[in-house]
Amino acid sequence: MRFFAIATALVSVVVAEKFTVIVAENGGLTYTPPSVTAKVGDTIAFQFQAGNHTVTQSTFANPCTPMTTPAVGIDSGFLPVAAGATQFPEWSFTIDNASAPLWFFCNRPPHCSRGMVFALNPTPERTYDAFLVRIGHILNRSSS
Ligand SMILES: *[C@@H]1O[C@H](CO)[C@@H](O)[C@H](O)[C@H]1NC(C)=O
Ligand SMILES: *[C@@H]1O[C@H](CO)[C@@H](O)[C@H](O)[C@H]1NC(C)=O
Ligand SMILES: *[C@@H]1O[C@H](CO)[C@@H](O)[C@H](O)[C@H]1NC(C)=O
Repeated sequence: MRFFAIATALVSVVVAEKFTVIVAENGGLTYTPPSVTAKVGDTIAFQFQAGNHTVTQSTFANPCTPMTTPAVGIDSGFLPVAAGATQFPEWSFTIDNASAPLWFFCNRPPHCSRGMVFALNPTPERTYDAFLVRIGHILNRSSS
């Protein structure tokens, strides 16, 4: 009996993981990696390594714009990093719904239009690449 109780307890343990995403690695307009697939309870930590950037939530439909509906999105705010810094600011959150893809961008124009975007748990219907294409559509629409 005791053996079975212990075995059952072990099977139900799901270890939460921490994913680190580098913001502006080598000064680039990038999140590295640009897309992460993670589960409920996992933490996504953004480590800002250069410049003065944000990690700001948008919707899939409106990239490069802070999300306001159905709720105000999450936002790191600007986290500047001095040249030559050896300690980097970090901003993180924990996933509470892995079925909901979340979309992010740097809210310093024109970084988003240059592709500084991040996808958490993209789906086969809404992929990271589809999000990049959407940015192209939005830019084309607003410049015409
Ligand atoms: C970072 O950018 C924000 C928004 O433009 C600005 O208010 C802030 O002063 C900047 N910080 C530094 C250290 O440049
Ligand atoms: C999780 O997200 C999905 C997709 O947006 C949604 O359908 C579902 O209701 C959400 N679940 C919870 C518990 O909020
Ligand atoms: C945006 O416009 C350019 C130039 O007309 C075109 O080559 C490109 O395919 C368009 N991008 C999208 C996503 O529509």
